[in-house]
Amino acid sequence: MSTYLDFLSVANMLTIGLCMGGLLAAVVARWLRRWQNPKCNGVLPPGSMGLPFVGETLGLIIPSASLDLPPFIKTRIKKYGPIFRTNLAGRPMIVTADREFNHFLLRQDGKLVDTWSLDTFAEVFDQTTQSSRKYTRNLTLNHFGIEALRGNLLPKMENAINDTLRAWSSQESTEVKSAAITLTIDFASKQLFSGDLDDAPLKLSDMFNHLVDGLMSFPLNIPGTAHHKCLKVHKQVREMMSDVLRKRRSSSEKREDLLHHLINDMDTGDFLSEGFIIQLMFGLLFVSSDSISTTCALAFKFLFEHPTVLDELIAEHVHILEKKENTDSPLTWNDYKSMTFTLQVINEVLRLGNISPGLLRRALQDIPINGYTIPEGWVILLASAALHLNPDEFEDPLTFNPRRWKTWQFETRIHEIVRDTTRHEYTTRIHLKNGDKAYFYSCIRFVSISSLTRDLNSSVVAKSFMPFGSGMKQCAGSEYSRVFLATFLHVLVTKYRWELVKGGKIVRAPIIRFPHGFHYKITAKT
Ligand code: HEM
Ligand SMILES: *[C@@H]1O[C@H](CO)[C@@H](O)[C@H](O)[C@H]1NC(C)=O
Ligand SMILES: *[C@@H]1O[C@H](CO)[C@@H](O)[C@H](O)[C@H]1NC(C)=O
Ligand SMILES: *[C@@H]1O[C@H](CO)[C@@H](O)[C@H](O)[C@H]1NC(C)=O
Repeated sequence: MSTYLDFLSVANMLTIGLCMGGLLAAVVARWLRRWQNPKCNGVLPPGSMGLPFVGETLGLIIPSASLDLPPFIKTRIKKYGPIFRTNLAGRPMIVTADREFNHFLLRQDGKLVDTWSLDTFAEVFDQTTQSSRKYTRNLTLNHFGIEALRGNLLPKMENAINDTLRAWSSQESTEVKSAAITLTIDFASKQLFSGDLDDAPLKLSDMFNHLVDGLMSFPLNIPGTAHHKCLKVHKQVREMMSDVLRKRRSSSEKREDLLHHLINDMDTGDFLSEGFIIQLMFGLLFVSSDSISTTCALAFKFLFEHPTVLDELIAEHVHILEKKENTDSPLTWNDYKSMTFTLQVINEVLRLGNISPGLLRRALQDIPINGYTIPEGWVILLASAALHLNPDEFEDPLTFNPRRWKTWQFETRIHEIVRDTTRHEYTTRIHLKNGDKAYFYSCIRFVSISSLTRDLNSSVVAKSFMPFGSGMKQCAGSEYSRVFLATFLHVLVTKYRWELVKGGKIVRAPIIRFPHGFHYKITAKT
C-alpha cells in the first residue's frame, strides 16, 4: 500500500540529494566513473546513472501537465527500450515496461524480489515482516472484501454517498477531490473504529486533507511550511488513533469493527503491538482515501467532458432503477453485478488515472533478463503506467473510451474462436461462469475483425492492465474500491448533473495532483 507514497518522498530525497550534489562537485574522477558504471556480474540494461547522488531524480519529478506517462520514462523507453537502468534519489534502479517480465516478477515476491519502499515513508506505511503483511491483508479482506461488501457494506455505502451528494448539491461549488477525501475517510473510519472519534475536537477528514496537501510540499521542516504542517498533522492523527485504541481497550463495550478484531488478536500475533495497530489504522485510512478520491475526481472530469459516455452510463443506471419495484429501495449485490458499463468506465478511469507510475520491488539476487543482468539489491520500478498507456495494446491510449473494454470483457469468457475467413466473420463459443453453474452460448458472431484482433486479446490485457497490482500483493481493497466507485456513480448519475466551475488542471510529478482543484457545481435533477 505504500508504493505511490514512495514517489512522493522522491521529492524530499531530491532536496537532500541536491545539497549533497553541491558538496560533491569536487569529487574525484575515479569515483565518478564508478558511479556511472556500477558493479554487475554481467551486462547492465542500457541507460544512464545521471549525476552523483541526485541520479536522474530531477527528470522524474519535473511536473508534466498531462495524464501521459512522465516524460522521463517515455523518452527513456524510446531511447533504450522497455528495460533500462537509471538512478533515482541516489539509488540504482531498473525501470521495466516489459509486459511479460513484469508479469513474471510479480509472481516472484519473496523469491527473486521483495517489496521496497523509500526510507522516508517506510516507517509509516511499511509492513516490516511477512507475517504482519499477511495479517494486514487477511484483516483488510475480512472487513473490506467481497463477503463484507455483499453483506452490509454496500447499503451502508449507498446511504453515506446519498447523504454526501445531497450535501454537495446544496453548495455553490464543491471541490470534489477534497470532498471525496472527507467522504472516504468518514466512511472508512466508521468501519475501522465505529464512531469513536465523532466527538473529537479535530476532524479526521480535515487532517487527511492537510496531510495530502503537505505530502507534495517542499520538505522544509520549519514552522509555517506545508511540510512542517504535514508532519504535525501526521503526529496528531497518530495521537488520535492511539487515544481511540486506549479508550477502547479500557471500555467494556463490544463493537463489531476492525479495531475490535485487532484488539482481540493482540494476544496471539507477536507483532500486534500498539504501535503496529496505530500504524495500520493510519495506513488503511490513507490508502482508502487518497486513491479512491482521486479516481472519483477524475470520473467527474471525464464524464463531464464525454457526454455520450455519460448518457450511456445514465441509461444503465436508469434501467437498474426501472427494474426495481420501488426506486427508493437500496442497491443490491445483483444490481452491482449488473453494472457492466459502469465497471468499464471505472476501468478506463483507472487506466488513464495511473495514480502512481508503477510498483516498486528490490532484487533479492541477480536476475537475468534478455541477456542483461539486474544486480542483487537494485530497486526495480515496474512501470505499469507505461503498459496502461501503450498504444500497441490500447488504441489511442490517451483517449477516454470506456467502450474499448466492451469487447475485452466479452473475450475473457471466450472459449474458442473459430475464424471463418471466407465470410470475414468469427464464430465463438463462450463460457459464462455464474456461481457454480456454467452456461454455454455458441455461435455469437462478431462482424468486425479489427475489434477482435486488437482490443480483444485478454491474455495480453490481463498482463498489461494492473491498476491494483497483480500477483501475491494485489490490492486487498480492489473490490471495495470498485463497489464504492460504482455506487458513487449510481447515485451521482441518477440524481445529479454537474458542471465545472473552476480548476480542472492535472499535474503529474509523477504522482497525479490537481493544483487548482476540481470545483464543480452539482445540481439535483428535477
Ligand atoms: C482506487 C483505489 C486503489 C488503488 C488504485 C490501489 C492500488 C494498489 C496497488 C497498485 C497495490 C499493490 C502494491 C504493490 O504490489 O506493491 C495495492 C496494495 C494494497 N492495497 Fe490498494 N489501492 C486502492 C484502494 C485500496 C483500498 C480502499 C484499500 C483498503 C480498504 C487498499 C488496501 C491495500 C492493501 C492492504 C494492499 C497491500 C496488499 C498486500 O501487500 O498483500 N487499497 N493497492
Ligand atoms: C484470516 O482471518 C480469519 C477471520 O478472522 C481467521 O479465521 C483466519 O485464521 C485468518 N487467516 C490467516 C492466514 O491469518
Ligand atoms: C437518499 O436520500 C433521500 C432523501 O433523503 C431518501 O428519500 C432516500 O431514501 C435515500 N436513499 C437511500 C438509498 O439511502
Ligand atoms: C494474444 O497475444 C499473444 C501474445 O502476443 C499471442 O500469442 C496470441 O496469439 C494472441 N491471441 C489472439 C486471439 O490474438
